[in-house]
Amino acid sequence: MKNDRPLLIGTNLKMYKTAAETVRYLSGLIDRSSELPLEELRLFVIPSFTSLYPAREILRDSPIMLGAQNMFWEDEGQYTGEVSPPMLKELGVRIAEIGHSERREHFGETDRDVNRKAAAAIRHGLIALVCMGETKTDKELDIVEERLSEQIKVGLKPLGGQAPGSLWIAYEPAWAIGRGGIPAEPGYVAARHRFIRSVLVRVFDEEGRKIPILYGGSVNEENACAYISQPEVDGLFVGRAAWQAEGFARLIRRVMPVWHAKHSRGVSHD
Ligand code: PGA
Repeated sequence: MKNDRPLLIGTNLKMYKTAAETVRYLSGLIDRSSELPLEELRLFVIPSFTSLYPAREILRDSPIMLGAQNMFWEDEGQYTGEVSPPMLKELGVRIAEIGHSERREHFGETDRDVNRKAAAAIRHGLIALVCMGETKTDKELDIVEERLSEQIKVGLKPLGGQAPGSLWIAYEPAWAIGRGGIPAEPGYVAARHRFIRSVLVRVFDEEGRKIPILYGGSVNEENACAYISQPEVDGLFVGRAAWQAEGFARLIRRVMPVWHAKHSRGVSHD
């Protein structure tokens, strides 16, 4: 059964795949498009900066959305090494990924930076895909909810009325991400998504219900259905398990019926 709500699903290629490899990967995904209900999806791929131009060329006639892994908040200026929103827009980028845990951990990104970047993305008509989540230490100290509240109140609240509509959130506990990451229990994920939703509603009133919350962190073909069946999980943000086109297409095909079943049961936040 169809539903009006598209499933948001995508991948961040991190610092993997050269431009040539990205083009091969995207061709593989395009080849498999006929097996995928693309009209029921918002499928997105976020490659390295150096892959954006060839990626745009190959995705020209495809509904697959292109994203960038980072972005600076100024339009131009003396900021060596940075990339601005107009530069990304020129390349057909529609999503700016902001505040991934690896950027927070290795490059010192703060919630204040996240806020400036998200505001700039939205001002330029990009979707700000803001990543948030607790670290292993936060979890051990039992301050997960405090951390998530802080990430929302400092990172997103100042966006005010600009936010809903142009903002997607990816909840990704840092301890569950990447090689060595421990997949989170679906019940744990459901509770965190519920909590994030409650803070979003407090901060943005009813509009807060419309902000999609994706889940990410060691999502794979085996566990994806368990995550997507949770209430308030509006999509999936996949790393390693999506980096082969065939495996990613299989994962999507497995998830779709579960997504439809969830919505036909009326499990939705709107
Ligand atoms: P992973 O990456 O699926 O490889 O854990 C997720 C992410 O970093 O978004």
